[in-house]
Amino acid sequence: MTDTTDTSASAALTANGLAKRYRRGVWALRDVDLAIPPGSVTALVGPNGAGKSTLIKAWVGFERPTTGRVAVAGVDPWRDRSGALRHVGYVPQAASLYRELTVDDHLALAASLRRGFDRAHARERLEELGIPLEARADELSGGQQAQVGLAIALGTRADVLLLDEPLASLDPLARREFLHVVTDAVRTHGTTAILASHIMTDVEQACDRLIVLGGGRKLLGDSIATALAAHRIAVDGGAASGPGAEAVATFAGQAGERLTLVRLADGTVADASLRAASLEEVVLGYLASGRPGSARLAGAA
Ligand SMILES: Nc1ncnc2c1ncn2[C@@H]1O[C@H](COP(=O)(O)OP(=O)(O)OP(=O)(O)O)[C@@H](O)[C@H]1O
Ligand SMILES: [Mg+2]
Repeated sequence: MTDTTDTSASAALTANGLAKRYRRGVWALRDVDLAIPPGSVTALVGPNGAGKSTLIKAWVGFERPTTGRVAVAGVDPWRDRSGALRHVGYVPQAASLYRELTVDDHLALAASLRRGFDRAHARERLEELGIPLEARADELSGGQQAQVGLAIALGTRADVLLLDEPLASLDPLARREFLHVVTDAVRTHGTTAILASHIMTDVEQACDRLIVLGGGRKLLGDSIATALAAHRIAVDGGAASGPGAEAVATFAGQAGERLTLVRLADGTVADASLRAASLEEVVLGYLASGRPGSARLAGAA
C-alpha cells in the first residue's frame, strides 16, 4: 500500500525509492516510498532488524541512501545536513550521553550546538521529573538517562521529532506522560513525529499513522483510520479470501485460535463472517507476513 503521493510536495518527511545496503552486503531498506504529512504522529513498527533505525538515520543524515532519496521539510539531509538538522529533534535508540558530564552540562552543550535551544524548558521538564541537574549521566538510571535525551529533543523545539524507541526504558506513567507531551506539540505547533516502538499501547495512545517495515520493505504505510477500514479478521480458517479480499497472513490469537488478517480492496464489501481488526491485529498480521514462510501460511488460510 502506498501513501498518496500528491501530498509529497508539502510532506514533512519523504523517502523516494529509498534503499540502503550496508558494507557487509545487508539490504537494510529496499524500495521504500513514504510521504508523511506535517502535524502527524507516525508509528514505525517492525521486527528486530526490519530497518526502522536505518530509516530514521537516513532522515537524520547519518546513513547515506544506497539508492533513492530522503528529505526533511523538503531538504535532503545528505546534501544539506545542517539545513535538514535545523528541523530535527532526534532521540537515538541507544542513550548517547557523556558519562562524565552532568545533566546541566548536557543542556549547555545542546544550547551551544543548537540555535534557539530552549534550555529553561528542558531544565523545567527534568526538574519536574525529579532528575537532579547536577547529577552526572552515569549516576542516572536507564530511564532517567532516556528522559534527559527526550528533554533535549523537546528543548530543540524542532518541527520534526524522530524518536527511535525512546520509551522502552520508561515506566508506564512516564511513557504515557511523554506521549501526551508529543501529541500536545503536534496539536499546538503542528510538529511531525515518528515514533519507532514495539509497544502497541503507545502506538494506540499517540499515533494517527502507521508504517510497518519487514525485511527492509514497507509492508504498510497509511493513516490508522484507513488501515483499520481496509482490514478484517477471519477466525479459524473463515472466508479469508474472495473477490476484493486478500489474506495477508495468519497468526495466533490470544486464546490460540487461528486469526487471518484480510485486506480489502477499495470499495469491497466485507464477507459477513469477517470481523473488524484491532490495530494490534493489523500490526501482528503484517509482522507475520514478513516472516519467512508466511506466504505459504497466507495461501493456506
Ligand atoms: N552499521 C551497520 N552495518 C551493517 N549492518 C547494519 C548496520 N546497522 C544495521 N545493520 C543491519 O541492517 C538491518 C536493519 O537494522 P536496523 O537497526 O535498521 O533495524 P531495526 O528495525 O531498527 O531493529 P531493532 O528493532 O532491533 O532496533 C539489520 O539486518 C542490521 O543487522
Ligand atoms: Mg532499531
